[in-house]
Amino acid sequence: MIDQETIQRIMDAARIEEVIGDFVSLKKRGANHIGCCPFHNEKTPSFYVSPSKGIFKCFGCGEAGDVVAFLKKHEHFTYPEALRWLAQKYHIEIQEEEQTEEQKERQNERDALFHVSDFAQKYFADLLYNDEMGRAVGLSYFHGRGLSDEVIKNFGLGYCLDEWSNFTDHARKNGYSDIVLEKTGLTIFKEDTKKAYDRFRGRVMFPIYSISGRVLGFSGRVLSSEKQAAKYVNSPDSDIYNKSKILYGLYQARSAISKANKCYLVEGNIDVISMHQSGVENTVASCGTSLTTEQIRLIKRYTPNVTVLYDGDSAGIKAALRAVNLLFAEGMHVRCVLFPDGEDPDSYAQKYGSTALQEYLASHEDNFVMFKTRVLLDGVKNDPIRKAELVKETVNTIALVPDLLERTEYVAQCAHLLGVPEEALASELAKAINQNRQKSYEEAKKEETAQAAPANPASPEVSETPVSPAPSVTAVNMPVAACERHLVQLLLNYGTHTLSQTILGDDGAPQEVTCSVAEIVVSELLSDELSFSDPLCQRIFEYYCDVVTRGETPDASHFATIDDEALRSFAISLMLDTWRISDTWRQKQIFVPSVEDNLQVDLTESILSFKVKCIDDRIAENARQLRAAKDDDEMMMILANKKELINIRRQLGLALHRVIN
Ligand code: CTP
Ligand code: MN
Repeated sequence: MIDQETIQRIMDAARIEEVIGDFVSLKKRGANHIGCCPFHNEKTPSFYVSPSKGIFKCFGCGEAGDVVAFLKKHEHFTYPEALRWLAQKYHIEIQEEEQTEEQKERQNERDALFHVSDFAQKYFADLLYNDEMGRAVGLSYFHGRGLSDEVIKNFGLGYCLDEWSNFTDHARKNGYSDIVLEKTGLTIFKEDTKKAYDRFRGRVMFPIYSISGRVLGFSGRVLSSEKQAAKYVNSPDSDIYNKSKILYGLYQARSAISKANKCYLVEGNIDVISMHQSGVENTVASCGTSLTTEQIRLIKRYTPNVTVLYDGDSAGIKAALRAVNLLFAEGMHVRCVLFPDGEDPDSYAQKYGSTALQEYLASHEDNFVMFKTRVLLDGVKNDPIRKAELVKETVNTIALVPDLLERTEYVAQCAHLLGVPEEALASELAKAINQNRQKSYEEAKKEETAQAAPANPASPEVSETPVSPAPSVTAVNMPVAACERHLVQLLLNYGTHTLSQTILGDDGAPQEVTCSVAEIVVSELLSDELSFSDPLCQRIFEYYCDVVTRGETPDASHFATIDDEALRSFAISLMLDTWRISDTWRQKQIFVPSVEDNLQVDLTESILSFKVKCIDDRIAENARQLRAAKDDDEMMMILANKKELINIRRQLGLALHRVIN
C-alpha cells in the first residue's frame, strides 16, 4: 500500500510530457506537445500532450487520460506499478511494510513475474563481478570480446553458474514461489520427478528489457564452442515476455534513435552492444526471431528510417531480404549496409575500431531495393525465365513503398540495373499497385460488411460488389468535387503549357523561372501531401506525378489508349470538354486577353480552391470532434487544433482573394 500523501507527492513531481517523452518522440507545438500516437498506427501526428493540464489525448483513436492512465495503457502497469515507476523516475521514496511470504504469493501475477525477473537479473549481474567463477569465466569472456565494464553494466549483463539449481535455490530462499519461477521459465520442472533445475546454466546472460527498462526475459550464450550445447538459450514467452513484440537493446537505444532519426537493425545481441560501445547507440536487434510487424511499429514510434546491417553470408542476406517487405509495408524508409563476407558489425568494430566502423556505416549505406535487385541478379545469370521472375519480385517490393517519389526513383534505378525499359517496369508496377489496392479495398469492404451485417442485416447496399477500378478506401462514398475535376482537366489539356513563375532563389532574391502546368500542380500538391478524393482523378494525377518526377514530358494521349475502360472514358470526357474559364470568372464577367494569362490565374485559383476544400474537410472533422468532446480538457485541445486550422484557412482565403480580385 502506498499512502495518500506519497501518492500526492508522486503526482506533483510527475511531468506528463517528460514521462510520455520517454516512450514517444514529442515535438512542442504551442502550449502542447504532439507526436505519433503509440496506441494506434499512424503516419501524421494526432497525439496531443498538454503539460499545463497534465493530460494526453489522441484525436485519431480517442485514447486519453493522465500520466498514470498513460503508463497503465502503454506499459500494462497496474495502478500501484505505475506509481512505483513514477516514484523511481522522480526519486521519491515509498515507505512500504515488509511483505510476508504469503503476501508475496498473493501478489498480482504479472507483478510477481516482473519481480523475479528483476531479481534474477541482479543476481546474474552480481555473480559476474563478485563470484570467483563469474569473474574467471563470464567476465573474462565479455572482456575477451572487447566489451568495457561500462557497457556491460549499461546492458545489465551477467553470468549464471554451471550448476543444476543454483539460481532456483537462491530464488526459493528469497521467497519466490515455484509457480512464478516456472512461469518466467527461469526454472524447469522435470515432468516425471518434478525435480527443479535452472534453465540457464554456465552461460553469459543478456537480460531483455522493456522500453521502460523492466527486465522481461533473458538470452543466455554458451561460452564453450562445444557442438552439443545450443549457442543461445532464451526465455520462453510468458505473461510479461513476448519475443515478437520486443527488440533487444531498444531500452538503451531509444533516445539515440529519436535524436538521430534513424535506427540500425542488426542480427545479434553482441552486435547491438558492440555498436553501442562504438558510439552507434541507435541500434537494436530482433530477439532471435525474424522481424515482426509489431517490432517495426516499436521502431516507428521513434523514427521512420531503418538501416539494416547484415553480414555478407547467404543466411544474413536471406534474413535481411525477408525483413524488407515487412518494413516497406509499414511505410518505413529502408536502407542497408552490407558487411564484407565473414564480418558482422561486432567483428568489424573489434578488428578495425570504432572510427572505422562509423566510417564504414556512413560510406556503405545503400538503398535496399537496389541491393535486393543486385543480390537476386547474381543468381539469375542468363536465364530469361528467372530474370522475368526477378523483375516481378523486384516490382512487388517497390509496390509496397508508399512514397511515390521514392517509388519513381527505385523504378529508374532498377530499370537501369536490370537492363529493362523503364516503361515496362513502370507498367508492371502500376499493375502490382492496383492489385494491392484492389486487395485492400476488398478486405476493407469485407470488414465493413462483417461489421454492418449484424446491426443492419436487411441493408442491400453492403453486399454490393465494388466497381472496377477499386477506389481508394477513404474515397468510398465521397462526392466528386468539381474543383478536383477542374484541376485534372487543366492537367490533361494544358499539362505541357509553360508559365513563368516567380520563386525565391538561393540568395533570397526573386527569380523568374519557367514551369509547366503539370510541374506546378504536382509540386504544389505533393509538398502539402494532398491527394484527390476521387479515385479516377487521383490515378490521372499519379500518372502526372510519375512522369514529372522522372523529369519527362507528360502525354495526355496516354489515357486515350489506356486499357482500363472506366479511366479511359473519364479522361477522354475531360479532354473533350473544352476549357472554360472557371465559374468565378464567368460570374464576374472578367475576360483576360491571353490564354497564358488566363491559364495562370485559373491554375492558381484551382490549386488554392483545392487546398481550401481539403482544409474545410479537416475543419468539419474538427467540428465533429468538438461535438463529441466529453470534458473541458478535451474541448480545449480540439479548440487549439481548430484555431490552427482556421488560421491556415484564412491564409488560403486571403491568397485566393488576391487572385480573384
Ligand atoms: N539466436 C538464438 N538462438 C540460437 C542462435 C541465435 O536465439 N541458437 C539469436 C540470438 O539472439 C543471437 C542472434 O540470433 O544474438 C544472432 O545469432 P548469431 O549471429 O549466431 O549470434 P551472435 O549474437 O552474433 O553471437 P556471437 O557473435 O557471439 O557468435
Ligand atoms: Mn556475432
